[in-house]
Amino acid sequence: MPNICTALLTGALLLLQGCTHLAPETYTPKLGQMGKDVMWLPTRDELVTQLLTAARVGPADELVDLGAGDGKIPIAAARQFGARAWGIEYNKDLAALAQRNAERAGVADRVRIVHGDIFKEDFSKATVVTLYLLEELNAQLRPTILAMRPGTRVLSNTFSMGDWEPDQVIRAGTGMGFFWTVPAVVQGQWAVQGLGTAETAVLRLAQKHQRVGGSLTLGGQVQTLLGASVDGADLHFSFVDAQGLLKSVKAQVMGAGFQGEVSGPYGMVDLPHDTVKVSGRRLGD
Ligand SMILES: C[S@@+](CC[C@H](N)C(=O)[O-])C[C@H]1O[C@@H](n2cnc3c(N)ncnc32)[C@H](O)[C@@H]1O
Repeated sequence: MPNICTALLTGALLLLQGCTHLAPETYTPKLGQMGKDVMWLPTRDELVTQLLTAARVGPADELVDLGAGDGKIPIAAARQFGARAWGIEYNKDLAALAQRNAERAGVADRVRIVHGDIFKEDFSKATVVTLYLLEELNAQLRPTILAMRPGTRVLSNTFSMGDWEPDQVIRAGTGMGFFWTVPAVVQGQWAVQGLGTAETAVLRLAQKHQRVGGSLTLGGQVQTLLGASVDGADLHFSFVDAQGLLKSVKAQVMGAGFQGEVSGPYGMVDLPHDTVKVSGRRLGD
């Protein structure tokens, strides 16, 4: 009988040891271990701080890290910048470790790690997206990211977004990252009121990501826009008015319309600096 008991006890102990060894609590990821689509390598602390600083991450933000690894980016976003943050991590053990790291860092109330696939989870509500993936994975995610709310900030460690030029290149030590802002879609024709003529002006815009060009038909005359840009939902263009003066429009794009102000000229002290409301309505492509 004692032999059976000893054998059972030994078996139970071995099982327990085995369980302890496999328990997520002791899980230690290995640098370079393969994930579903890309291996695990953590972004260096210095670059994390530089990236989140460049994007002006703050308490109003919801940051998502696509492929969260040990959770260091969502944790930094919450701890250093006061943001709410979540991460999507395909490796179950890494996801559990990341959540534990958030608890240890005292930010579990603002950091959530989801065990899931970045190509399946819905992150469309995030205001900041961070990536440390690969060029081809960024290319696959780009249409989803470009369809996010204008003004969403996007940060990538090392890897670019093809021909979507970054707004900023960020260097930290030997590391490098990129910063983009999702632009509003402004391509097409717009009817514009408030540019100083009784009749409606027609704005024609061509667009590739945040790069914008086009023309304005004002008082029957077509002119090429003198500088146009879109920064998130902010549309900016300059034109010459019926009196030959350079004017500047700053407007906020909201779906099929924009609202803003036309101002200028600047730096001409003897001319009044009047600001006039301007509005636009989308006519089509
Ligand atoms: C290079 S690491 C970056 C980790 C972290 N974002 C950082 O910058 O420190 C990429 C991470 O993505 C995870 N991953 C790979 N494919 C994934 C997928 N399809 N869905 C979610 N996570 C994935 C890997 O397991 C790995 O932890």
